[in-house]
Amino acid sequence: MNTFQLGHLTVNRMGYGAMQLAGAHAFGQPKNRDEALAVLREAVESGVNHIDTSDFYGPHITNQLIREALHPYRDDLTIVTKVGALRGADASWLPAQSPQELETAVHDNLRNLGLDVLDVVNMRLMFDVMAPAEGDIEAHITKLAELQQRGLIRHIGLSNATSRQVQQARAITGIVCVQNQYNLVLRHDDALIDELAQQGIAYVPFFPLGGFSPLQSSILAEVAAELDATPMQTALAWLLQRAPNILLIPGTSTVAHLRQNLAASKLVLPEQAVQRLNSVITSV
Ligand SMILES: NC(=O)c1ccc[n+]([C@@H]2O[C@H](COP(=O)([O-])OP(=O)(O)OC[C@H]3O[C@@H](n4cnc5c(N)ncnc54)[C@H](OP(=O)(O)O)[C@@H]3O)[C@@H](O)[C@H]2O)c1
Repeated sequence: MNTFQLGHLTVNRMGYGAMQLAGAHAFGQPKNRDEALAVLREAVESGVNHIDTSDFYGPHITNQLIREALHPYRDDLTIVTKVGALRGADASWLPAQSPQELETAVHDNLRNLGLDVLDVVNMRLMFDVMAPAEGDIEAHITKLAELQQRGLIRHIGLSNATSRQVQQARAITGIVCVQNQYNLVLRHDDALIDELAQQGIAYVPFFPLGGFSPLQSSILAEVAAELDATPMQTALAWLLQRAPNILLIPGTSTVAHLRQNLAASKLVLPEQAVQRLNSVITSV
């Protein structure tokens, strides 16, 4: 299965995460603006039809780059954004979770992406900025459901969420995806992934390559060399084989890395390689 349903939207399982297009730490202008635009155009020309973004990348800059590179958008392109944070002048990540702040964030995304309606909006929870933490999300999801009813949002997802929060949200409205941190060496969400698969909900790991600290593992390097692939390609292929509801949004600011990452969707890991990669978690 190379595609998955986000509500009524069909997306290829290999997508693209746009956060790395802004400056360092997703703040300010890109270090190479032409390359950033080229990455976006080549991604879509190569078959990517799922781009992950947020108006708080830059802030505003990543969405404006997407608009400049790709607007008017192809009919089959799904742009997934997220709300729930703002950036401080020092690049810090600040919670912005009140109903008014969520409404403002939706309008900021619409304006900077040049859209009348957002395909998917993830509610980025901030009870703990770094990891999922329990907390009541009724007010957050009720507000997004209202914006959905007003026709500004097609589908709703969650980010940095616990299993309990997914269930609370689902009691209010449909949830099509969950975006949490997960990769070969960080697997706290193993049970949640399987639970969501049963419910037909996509799991979209952020930092699939380790994010700001790229993955490093001797086992990963060995397996990759045996498969004549790069460690990053092998880590992405492992995620694709981990569960059918996993959608990938690896981020890069270069066309060269984009090409390598997209090629990972064709890399099939033999069972023995999967077993060795599964053991990485116990050896780090
Ligand atoms: N919901 C959330 O809270 C949240 C948080 C973080 C991110 N996200 C989303 O998740 C997406 C993915 O996360 P991410 O971009 O931060 O991290 P990532 O995909 O794990 O890794 C990106 C890092 O890996 C490098 N890289 C990419 N491809 C590579 C390759 N083939 N070989 C070597 N290095 C490579 C990139 O550098 P180069 O630019 O040099 O390639 C960048 O430093 C983001 O773009 C964003 O859309 C969501």
